This record gives sequence, structure tokens and C-alpha cells, in this order.
Amino acid sequence: MEETNKNVLGDCFTSAMALTESGVPHVPTRYILPPSQRPVLSPSIGTGSINLPVIDLSFLHDPLLRPSVIHEIEMACKEFGFFQVTNHGISSSVMRDALDAATRFFDLPSHEKMLLVSDDVHTPVRYGTSINHATDSVHYWRDFIKHYSHPLSKWINLWPSNPPCYKQKVGKYSEATHVLHKQLIEAISESLGLEKSYLEEEIEEGSQVMAVNCYPACPQPGIALGMPPHSDFSSLTILLQSSQGLQIKDKNNNWICVPYIEGALIVQLGDQVEVMSNGIYRSVVHRVTVNKDVNRLSFASLHSLPMNKKISPAPQLVNEDKPAAYGDFSFNDFLEYISRNDLTKQRFIDTVKKNKF
Ligand code: OGA
Ligand code: NI
Repeated sequence: MEETNKNVLGDCFTSAMALTESGVPHVPTRYILPPSQRPVLSPSIGTGSINLPVIDLSFLHDPLLRPSVIHEIEMACKEFGFFQVTNHGISSSVMRDALDAATRFFDLPSHEKMLLVSDDVHTPVRYGTSINHATDSVHYWRDFIKHYSHPLSKWINLWPSNPPCYKQKVGKYSEATHVLHKQLIEAISESLGLEKSYLEEEIEEGSQVMAVNCYPACPQPGIALGMPPHSDFSSLTILLQSSQGLQIKDKNNNWICVPYIEGALIVQLGDQVEVMSNGIYRSVVHRVTVNKDVNRLSFASLHSLPMNKKISPAPQLVNEDKPAAYGDFSFNDFLEYISRNDLTKQRFIDTVKKNKF
């Protein structure tokens, strides 16, 4: 049965990489966005004056200086739901190796990558293009491989066996991000006035989905996007990028380009933290632009509570003045939602809000 599905898929599947490699001068019609959704690519518009937060994590482990780092994190979470981190403990060689393995994977001939193709969002390891090529009304200039990554020993055997270095290199990076995520979620819990260990157990047993994204050079970057505006379902997403391309939405609904900082990692708040914080923090809406010149790669590590564990507003953050503004949800609820709904039409988090407006 599965084999048949794969073949059916294979017949109508064209990756963005295949289009770029064939040298198409224009994007096919299915990639063309309505004018109101097109990115403004001029660097002078909407990006000039805002300095997005960059937080040095080296003092997180120093009891005297930790409070000032927690304060910086609190400010960034309140203002943007986003920050970049430096001195985060993941070595540049581990990050470089992961990007190298991803480059080699996306450079493989189509038939190799198609061994892992699936449009079923429940599949633990799957290769695809756009968001869901089978259902997207507009397509996005992006190929991806997504795989579950924690606990590593449970999933790694299902990961790509080609290129041969993939499992080892990406495995190392995945484990390192899991450690970093734990430290960040402790800091974020503390910044909300919760115990540092508030989510300890859930995180230890939590799920981690590594979305490895490839945005090939695109002939018409002004009328297409690599990913549409969305927020992640995760608690936090840790993002490694090979070059600039990510944009986030600020409180005034302006798109801001995220600068590329060598060696830094991007931290984005996801819907689980928005719910846990009872709306004190918001998940960041972001999208991906493409460019004419280079293939851009990214690793979006989406960390969350275990698949079936529901997140709800922390009781300590709920009171008479601030009643619970959200119901609860699990990663599995999110998967069910996206298998039936188009995320570009309604955000998942809006379905979890108590007062839907
Ligand atoms: C994602 C995502 C951003 C990027 O995979 O959810 O938002 O820069 N990726 O690739
Ligand atoms: Ni995202």
C-alpha cells in the first residue's frame, strides 16, 4: 500500500531543487503569490532601524550574572518572541558538519530523495517540497526532510542512509540542540516567575522534530516565498541558517529581516510557550524569503512536549484578573489540525484561544 502511494506521489512531484537545477527562467504558475502576499525585498524598507536582540549565553551558568541574562531573555520574549544567541555551547564545527550533510542530501539525485517522500504529516521521517505539495493551493520554493530526533536511538535508523555521513553529523547537532533547548526552557520558565524545572520532565521525554530546509536559488524571488507566514507549534524552535532569508513580524505587523550572524543560533517562541505563559509571551510569526543567487539551508529544531501531552496555561500565571486565555493542546492535536486544515488560512493557535475573535 505504502509503495503504491509513493509511486502515485512520485508521478506528480517536482522539487524546487529540480526546478533550479533545470535552470527555469520563471517560476511555474503554482508558485506565484497574490500581490498582497509578496515580499518586499528592498533592504531599505521596514528593516532599517530595528535592532533585533542578540543574547550572549555565556553568563547563563554564572549564578551572579544569570539574572541579567534572564532579564534580557524576558525583554526579547515580550517584544518579539524571538532572539539570537551567541556562546550557546554548540561548536561551529558541529553546526558546519550538519549543514554539510544537508547540502549533500539535497544534492542527491531525485530518485534517492524520493525513497523518503511522504505527504502524510504523521510519518516520522519524510522528504517533501513546499508545505504539503499534495494540498497546497500556492506552492512554496522549499524542499525539506523532516525527522523525529529525540530520543535519538529510537529514530536515527530511519534517517537517510545517504549521504553516509548524515546520521552521524546531524545526530550530533540534534543532541546538542536538545541540551541547549533544556537550558533555554529553564531560563524562559524562570523569566516568567516559574520554577526553572517547571517543564523538566516533559522536556526530557519531549519530542523533537528536525526540519531540514533547502531553499534553492529562485529565478523570481519577488513573487514567491520559501515558507508562508506561520508560527511553530513547538515550545521553542532553534534555528541554524546558512544565509539570510528569515523574516519575523513585529508588534506593528511589519516584516523585519533577521540578519545572518556567523556562529549564532536563532530562538523562536512557539505556540506551546504562548499557551504555557497564558499569553504573556507570544509565538513569533515568521516567513522565509528566497533569493536569486544562493541555495539557502536551515535546520529548524522544533522542540515540544511529548506527542500526546497537553500543554495548558501554567496555574501560577492564571488568576481572577488574568483568567486562562487558552485551552490546552498537544503536538498530536496540531498534527491532526494540519492534516485537515490549511495553515495559511487560519493559525492553529487561534483555535486554542478561549476568546476567539
Ligand atoms: C520552519 C521555519 C525557517 C527557515 O521550518 O518552521 O520557519 O529559515 N523555517 O528555514
Ligand atoms: Ni517556522
